[in-house]
Amino acid sequence: MMIEVTSLLSSVSSVFYWTGTVVVVYFVGLLLYYVVYNTRLWMLGNPGAVGPHLGAWAVVTGATDGIGKVYAEELAKRGMKVVLISRSQEKLDQVAKEIRERSKVETKTIAVDFENKDTIYSDIKQGLEGLQIGVLVNNVGASYSYPEYFLEIPDLDKMINKLININSLSVCKMTQLVLPGMLERSKGVIINVSSIAGSQPQPFLTLYSASKVFVDFFSQSLNAEYKHKGIIVQSVKPYFVATKMSKIRKASIFHPNPEVFVKYALNTVGLASETAGYPPHAFVSWILNTLPTWLTTKLSVDGALKTRARYLQKMKKN
Ligand SMILES: NC(=O)c1ccc[n+]([C@@H]2O[C@H](COP(=O)([O-])OP(=O)(O)OC[C@H]3O[C@@H](n4cnc5c(N)ncnc54)[C@H](OP(=O)(O)O)[C@@H]3O)[C@@H](O)[C@H]2O)c1
Repeated sequence: MMIEVTSLLSSVSSVFYWTGTVVVVYFVGLLLYYVVYNTRLWMLGNPGAVGPHLGAWAVVTGATDGIGKVYAEELAKRGMKVVLISRSQEKLDQVAKEIRERSKVETKTIAVDFENKDTIYSDIKQGLEGLQIGVLVNNVGASYSYPEYFLEIPDLDKMINKLININSLSVCKMTQLVLPGMLERSKGVIINVSSIAGSQPQPFLTLYSASKVFVDFFSQSLNAEYKHKGIIVQSVKPYFVATKMSKIRKASIFHPNPEVFVKYALNTVGLASETAGYPPHAFVSWILNTLPTWLTTKLSVDGALKTRARYLQKMKKN
């Protein structure tokens, strides 16, 4: 009887021993994987993935300010000719001139408003005719002026059309125009700028958040469809970047300026099909994905309501 108990205890402790060993090996392996993966992604990067070897031209939407302007500048620095697309011809001419002087590459501009879906895509098609396009950056985006209840958004009909046309439809239509040429040459990169708001629901920015989920899923699905044909489609999901849209004037580690953001983001192409684009943003994204949804939603609601109250108060005073 005594021998049977001893043998049972020994079997149980052996089970605990091996279970413990497997768990420790699993977590050490996971930790090592994360260290190697993140070192490769953020410190070494993949600077050779994007450049004129994909095709002479890069096309950037929303290219006269913020993140899009810096993508255009960086691609030009890598020797690509750039097509800049935004609304204002004056701003386009200015940015094109700066890029030509700094990087000695050809530029082309197309002035369109992505809010007007009915007329612009034939103009863009005409503007891109005959160009060998290696890179498309679908960056143009619009958001709310301030967080608001869905039904209380001023001129709601217009806002629904605006955010869907600029943020989501433009990504599909630009891809439809550019992807066939890339497929003919079996190479090309499409970078779609989504947002962390496409990973985490953003109450009071509901339309914006939903439009960015579309961009993210469109990109990831398209990447799976075409990666075996030499096309990379990347979804970039930043947290705050100091631009006009975010209204953040002073850059900081968690709110970088677009120059810092794009330098990191561009080097992740070919290594990550979806990315926060910048290490501190990847950290924020990891934290938000780890916390329970009820908590992240509550934090978003509280933050948005405070911002809304401040904005409405300011408007009352003016
Ligand atoms: N900034 C952030 O914190 C942040 C965070 C996450 C994601 N994002 C995403 O990053 C992208 C770029 O944002 P950003 O902050 O760099 O914006 P931004 O500084 O406001 O620049 C927007 C660019 O798009 C152009 N544009 C705006 N509306 C347009 C329209 N209807 N038709 C054509 N062009 C238009 C603007 O030029 P014109 O005014 O001359 O047309 C400008 O070149 C967006 O998709 C945004 O959703 C930004």
